[in-house]
Amino acid sequence: MDEKAKKFDLVVIGSGPGGYPAAIKAAQLGLSVALIEANELGGTCLNRGCIPSKALIATAAVLDNIKNADEFGIQVGQVTYDYSKMVDRKDAVVSQVRKGLEGLIRANNITLFKGVGKLLSPKEVKVIGQDNALIRTDKIIIATGSEPRNIPAFPCDNVKVLDSTALLNLRKLPKKIIIIGGGIIGCEFASLFNAFKVEVVIVEMLTRIIPMECQSVSTALTKAFERKGITMHTQAMVQGIDNTPQGVRVRVAGQDPLDADIALVAVGRSMNTRDIGLENAGILVKENGLVKVDEHMQTTTEGIYAIGDIASTWWLAHVATHQGIVAARHAAGERSAVMHYNAVPSVIFTVPEIGTVGLTLEKAIEQGYQATVGAFPFQALGKSQATLQTDGFAQIVTDKRTGQILGAQVVGHDASALIAEMGVVIANELTVESVIETIHAHPTVAEAWLEAALVANNTPLHLPPRGKKK
Ligand code: FAD
Ligand code: NAI
Repeated sequence: MDEKAKKFDLVVIGSGPGGYPAAIKAAQLGLSVALIEANELGGTCLNRGCIPSKALIATAAVLDNIKNADEFGIQVGQVTYDYSKMVDRKDAVVSQVRKGLEGLIRANNITLFKGVGKLLSPKEVKVIGQDNALIRTDKIIIATGSEPRNIPAFPCDNVKVLDSTALLNLRKLPKKIIIIGGGIIGCEFASLFNAFKVEVVIVEMLTRIIPMECQSVSTALTKAFERKGITMHTQAMVQGIDNTPQGVRVRVAGQDPLDADIALVAVGRSMNTRDIGLENAGILVKENGLVKVDEHMQTTTEGIYAIGDIASTWWLAHVATHQGIVAARHAAGERSAVMHYNAVPSVIFTVPEIGTVGLTLEKAIEQGYQATVGAFPFQALGKSQATLQTDGFAQIVTDKRTGQILGAQVVGHDASALIAEMGVVIANELTVESVIETIHAHPTVAEAWLEAALVANNTPLHLPPRGKKK
């Protein structure tokens, strides 16, 4: 067995948005790299997460535009659609991106092993599957990701009680869906299915949907969902789901059961950290299943790194990628490579979209800042009026003493693109003045940031003054 062992400088286990960029970066830095993947290249994000969900969401946006055409004076006849074809397009997008990724892996001379990777020791990884191999290595990056969290009281059968992966592959729209969990996945699917005229009911155990976001953002989405006819039950804990001849019956603590054709369970993720031999390498796993890492993404064992969903509660593809780059650089000898989380943008692809970065007002005050917020409604922007996209607002959280921008939140059309500017501002510790001094093109929705900065500075241009300038 020993003579047959293959030797690499670095082994990366898992090819999601954490693992594959780590492999590419390490190869660019001159390391010989093996990448092990048990399923399809690209991980959750490409195959059953970000890309397929956004392909379907983009389809729903086209439908919305057609439905709203009348407001622009354009009459279209009766609009019909074939959901199954929309799912085909989504699959085509995924396979197209995957082909590109396969090419990138080859172009960077990364050796791909297809199979399940398991640590035998801090320097040995076994691959079991299509490619059986024993690999000796100096460094290891573990990027095994996560899976939908299954709750024993209502396990997913993926026929009537579905997880997000199964829902993405559904080929026929239900008449009614109950979504358990009003978090990010729950709200994105609620928005998507609402666009296709499916009756949507969200059941969330906490006091509001998207409880991880600040109150004003959560309230804005709640109101938008109410207007669209989405029903929301909050402070409602699901206790079980029964099969009925018509579909499912969801039992909710303290209230009448709810019936629908199908249910989606979107109650968080569970980490792929079991059965991969972490104990063979002395790697500490915390109670919540996350691997303990330092600022270089290094685990409790020197030379072994963990990145992506398994390494922090930032379950976002771009965080996984950034962590992967940090780990690869550190593994290649760049000791200064460290991870910062002060300017992580997060986008929720609902209608309206939500973009956030940095601190909320509540968090800033909690951290001892003399914080204030400057908010500007899209209603007051010429571009938003021109495009009939007037819902929502952009707001910035600032430190009154220094003018530094600590956080930003935006709810509205194209929030996903808008939030990038505030990412740069916060990562570079810029101030309200620096945004005010930056010329923003007119007419664009990005002017909302300039206006929000002016509001925070008590010198609003397109809103009535809110008080005397201090
Ligand atoms: P993963 O992407 O989960 O990849 C891990 C890979 O490791 C998988 O391919 C798996 O097969 C492989 N693997 C596991 N164990 C082994 C083993 N022992 N040996 C070999 N291979 C193994 N994030 C965003 O930022 N934006 C979004 O819009 C977004 N949308 C999402 C929508 C949905 C429906 C879901 C479920 C998630 C979404 N996410 C989004 C989250 C994002 O997908 C994850 O944060 C991201 O994929 C995590 O990357 P990762 O590399 O840690 O793990
Ligand atoms: P989540 O943590 O965002 O939301 C789960 C929700 O379920 C919580 O609000 C929780 O209170 C609720 N819940 C838990 N048990 C419940 C019960 N028994 N009854 C009723 N409600 C219950 O997790 P989610 O939505 O599964 O998403 C997982 C992760 O995937 C997210 O944290 C996010 O990081 C990532 N993701 C990111 C996206 C993006 O960036 N656009 C899109 C989709 C997912």
